[in-house]
This record gives sequence, structure tokens and C-alpha cells, in this order.
Amino acid sequence: MDLDNRLENVTIIGAAGKMGSGIAVLIGQEIAKLKIKTPDKTYKLNLIDTNEKALNGLYAYIKSQFVKVAEKSIVSLRSMYQERADLVENKDIIDAFVEDALGAIRFGNNLEMANNSRLVFEAIIENEDVKISLLKKLNQICSKDAFFFTNTSSIPISFLDKNVGLDGRIIGYHFYNPPVVQKLLEVISGDTTLPEIKDTAKELGERLRKKLLPANDIAGFIGNGYFMRDGLYGIEEVNNLKSSHTFSESIYMINRVTQDFLIRPMGIFQLIDYVGIEVFQWILLVMNKHLKDVTLHNKLIDLMVEKKVLGGQNSDGSQKNGFFSYKKNKMIGVYDIEKGEYMPIEEKWKENMDGKLGSLPAGFATWKSLLSAEDKDNLLKTYFNNLKSDNTLGAKTAKKYLERSKEIGKELVKTKVAFSDEDVNTVLTNGFFWLYGPINSYI
Ligand SMILES: NC(=O)c1ccc[n+]([C@@H]2O[C@H](COP(=O)([O-])OP(=O)(O)OC[C@H]3O[C@@H](n4cnc5c(N)ncnc54)[C@H](O)[C@@H]3O)[C@@H](O)[C@H]2O)c1
Repeated sequence: MDLDNRLENVTIIGAAGKMGSGIAVLIGQEIAKLKIKTPDKTYKLNLIDTNEKALNGLYAYIKSQFVKVAEKSIVSLRSMYQERADLVENKDIIDAFVEDALGAIRFGNNLEMANNSRLVFEAIIENEDVKISLLKKLNQICSKDAFFFTNTSSIPISFLDKNVGLDGRIIGYHFYNPPVVQKLLEVISGDTTLPEIKDTAKELGERLRKKLLPANDIAGFIGNGYFMRDGLYGIEEVNNLKSSHTFSESIYMINRVTQDFLIRPMGIFQLIDYVGIEVFQWILLVMNKHLKDVTLHNKLIDLMVEKKVLGGQNSDGSQKNGFFSYKKNKMIGVYDIEKGEYMPIEEKWKENMDGKLGSLPAGFATWKSLLSAEDKDNLLKTYFNNLKSDNTLGAKTAKKYLERSKEIGKELVKTKVAFSDEDVNTVLTNGFFWLYGPINSYI
């Protein structure tokens, strides 16, 4: 069965979530294009989620995204719709595309909707028991030769295959957040993954214009294999500062070092808040279970979860409180673990903390300004050379962080999670929007 056939009946499970809703927009577009080419065929895109409230909001979101897509690709759509003499104005074409795309979609919470599906995207909660039980049910309902594309961030694909009994009809298709925008797509084949599913995954990724990056089937893959260790190192550094600083001060300082001194888009604790502290904990649990010879754990994460300080996002996309508290997505407070409340980040306090870290090395430029700088590489090289010769607390901590960062990257290649240094760097530069990969010559 070729990809076009598979796209005739697709199910996305967890469709109302962050990842599922984005995948729905991407797949919806591909189905709409096929519908234009072959108007006589029937297409089904089943969007299933247990959260009814979120499902209700999904229709409006998806429709608005289809309008955006149609507006952006009006020239190619005009040529695709050349047979339709009734479509004259741009608005006619946009409306026709949105109608074709929405026409295939059915929303609901009933798994039976997946009846006869040939391609399934799974994007539910990162819990292996829940994923296994759901995939087992879907395997009974879908077409006998359905392919399963799982968005798991950490669970080995061979393990899922074995426990669900899919006989190789599963592949890791790890979109990055948000799937509509992010180019990177980590593709993970298990020991048993069938060659046909690999081909389908490749063809679909190319149609979606994604940057496909293979990773080995080792828990956490490249993205979380890196991120979990980087986050745990951040916590270790907080513990190192704790003898002379309060918890809140240490969190603020390590966050500042990882954002400004390392010129990354976000500090490490802001990033953990963004991903969600509980999600961070789940991924660590999975990795600990499946990886022998390593312990990836820190009790601070468990403590934060116990205190129900979870980070993550509200349904409108705004940031929930975690290590930091936020107002309009701006950090306004930092968590005080003893008091169980947020300490406001006041100007004077901030000045004091920044003073302890010391000035930023000469040549510093913000992540945002360097993003589009033509001579970015040279600017970074000069900046990191200056950082190496500075002796401030900020620079010394940043140097250690750069070293650890490189070590983590190298470990991923040595343990065969990643095929090459370059693949590790590609994940961090594309998936995490870093300006430079962790395996670099700056340190
Ligand atoms: N958020 C990210 O940055 C990110 C990035 C890459 C991969 N992932 C992975 O994608 C998957 C989904 O993550 P997310 O961030 O979109 O989570 P999410 O919580 O935003 O969405 C999960 C959705 O699944 C639904 N759901 C849960 N159990 C279900 C069930 N049994 N049947 C039907 N629907 C169910 C929930 O109602 C929710 O809408 C996870 O495996 C995660 O590890 C997440």
C-alpha cells in the first residue's frame, strides 16, 4: 500500500494536545492536496482525544491554521485548482482549500472512529503503560496492516512493538514542538521496524518538508538524551551554589548563566518549565528504566512534582508557573522551595544577583540578535574566547557548563544513540534553536 492509499484513512490519537493538534494540521493539508487531485475519493482524518473540552477548541484552531496555510500557498493552490472554473478570487480558493481540508476531518473521543485506519499518529501522554494499552486497542480496530507512527519522546520503539504485538508496524516519528513550525523530525526505527514503514516515514517526511534525522532506538533518543542530562547538570550546579546562596538565588543564577553567558534561547530552568517539570520527571523515569549503567535522577524534580509545581502550558499557550512564575510569559518570580511560594524578581535583587555573576564577557550579543547575524560563527568564537579568559563566577560556571555540554554530546555518539557529532548538533540547533551545537571548538 503506498502513502497516498494510507492517507485515505488516518487517525491521530491525542489530537487535542500540543503535538497532536500540530500533527493534525500537517496531515490535514496533505489530505486536502490529495482530495484536490482525486476529488472522487473519500478521505478520513479521525481526530481522537479523551479531553472533550480541548476537542471543542480544536476545530477553531485547525480551521485558522488551514486558512493561514492557504493564504501562504495561494499560487500553488491556484494551479492545483485549475480545473475549478468557479474559483476566481483568492478568497474562493482559500475557502475551497479549507473546505476540502476540513471535509475529511471527524472529531471525537471514541476509539472506534479509527476503524480501518491505515496510518495512525499517536501523541498521547508519555506513559508507557497507557501508550501500550491504547496501541493494543487501536491495533484491533485499525486496518490489519496499519502503520503506527508514535511521537514518544523517550520510550524505545522495539519495547513498544514487542509489548503491543505490532510485528514491526511501528516507528518513532518524533516531531518537535510546535510540529507545524519545527523542521526537525527525529525518526527512530526499532530492531523489528519493517522496511516498508521506514519508506513511508521517509516519503511523508519529505512531503511535509521536514528535516529527517535518524536516531538509534535508545531511550530518550537524541533530543531528550541530551536535554535530560543538561537539565540534571543544571540542578547539580544549583546544589553547588547552595552553600553560599539560597535556592531561589541559585536557580536564578544558573538560569542566567545558561541563557546569557551561554547565549541560548532560554535558560535551563525556563526550558524545564516550558517542557513541564512533570514531563521531565516522566522522561527520566522511562530512561532510568530502559538504560542500564546510568542513573538519571534528581530528587529536586520529584520534590517539585510532589509540591504540584509543574510548569507546562495553559490551553491558551501561556506559561504555567514552575521554577519561575510568569506574567504574560515573562518571568516575574522565582520559586522559594522552603516557603513554597514565589519570590518576586525585583530590580534591586536582580542587580545584586547579576553583580555576583559578574559582567558578561566582551563581545556578548543576545541570542536573538545573533540569530540573523551573517558572521555569527566568528562573533561566537570571539565571545567564547573572551569568556574563557574571564574569571567571574558567571564565566567560570559557563565554562564548566560548556565542557559538560560537549561531554553529553560526545557520550550520545559513543553510546550510539546518535550516529555522529553532527547529528547531535543538528538536533540542538534545529530542535532547540541553539546557535551552535554542544560539540564545538569553543571549549
Ligand atoms: N510537548 C513537547 O514538547 C513534545 C515534543 C516532542 C514529543 N512529545 C511527545 O508527544 C506526546 C504528546 O505530548 P504533548 O506535549 O502533546 O502532550 P499533551 O498533554 O499536550 O497532549 C496529550 C493529549 O493526549 C490526550 N490523551 C491522553 N490519553 C489519551 C487516551 N488514552 N486516548 C486519547 N487521548 C488521550 C490528552 O487529552 C491530551 O489532549 C508525548 O509522548 C510527548 O512525550 C512532546
